[in-house]
Amino acid sequence: MTTATITPPAVPEAIESFTVTLMIRRFNPEVDAEPHWQDFDVELYATDRVLDALHKIKWEQDGTLSFRRSCAHGICGSDAMRINGRNRLACKTLIKDLDITKPVYVEAIKGLPLEKDLIVDMEPFFESFKAVQPFLVSQQAPKDGKERIQTVAQRERFDDTTKCILCAACTSSCPVFWTDGQYFGPAAIVNAHRFIFDSRDDNAAVRLDILNDEEGVWRCRTTFNCTEACPRGIQVTQAIAEVKQAMMRGKP
Ligand code: SF4
Ligand code: FES
Repeated sequence: MTTATITPPAVPEAIESFTVTLMIRRFNPEVDAEPHWQDFDVELYATDRVLDALHKIKWEQDGTLSFRRSCAHGICGSDAMRINGRNRLACKTLIKDLDITKPVYVEAIKGLPLEKDLIVDMEPFFESFKAVQPFLVSQQAPKDGKERIQTVAQRERFDDTTKCILCAACTSSCPVFWTDGQYFGPAAIVNAHRFIFDSRDDNAAVRLDILNDEEGVWRCRTTFNCTEACPRGIQVTQAIAEVKQAMMRGKP
């Protein structure tokens, strides 16, 4: 009879943790006249993201800390915030990619009314989005009664702007939007672009007319903040430029 040798499972090496200081701009409308900074020391791992740090603070140190999040994977667009002065998604920002020898500053996005801590009122943002008719408008039935056929080249014209997740990182990084909340803002223009350049849509002229307004595309000063802020890598400034060109031509 032979005896089988069983190799014990490898014991994983201890994963190193480190302490990071987060400075969070707090605001409770029931007691605060103005927002103020509060610091928290959190033990984290290299795989943690800013969203994980916020969860740890909320679960272990201060349950009143308020922020939005849903998917935690860069899809729902609900956790855009300013991290060390730049608009980013908390769920896509790894702590180890920040300079953790200094405190990490986290605050709400700018230009929209602050409600509590990291939460802003998104209604003005969605009003602008809705105003540009972000849906397909077609006056004719499909030729075969089933599908509106499109070539690859036709689809490519608006491929980039289909990726928008409406996180508002672009609009709330725009200096024009900070000073004039009436400006439609980059995200609304991106979502208008999505349909203006869609060969199946018949309402490009209406959308171009809406954006040819004093609060429309001409307010853009091409600072590129929006393109740098976009977590989906959308060429936002280019999309705005293409809408401007379509306006000059009088067609997409
Ligand atoms: S264009 Fe980019 S930054 Fe702007 S709302 Fe869409 S996903 Fe967010
Ligand atoms: S939680 Fe959904 S995008 Fe970050």
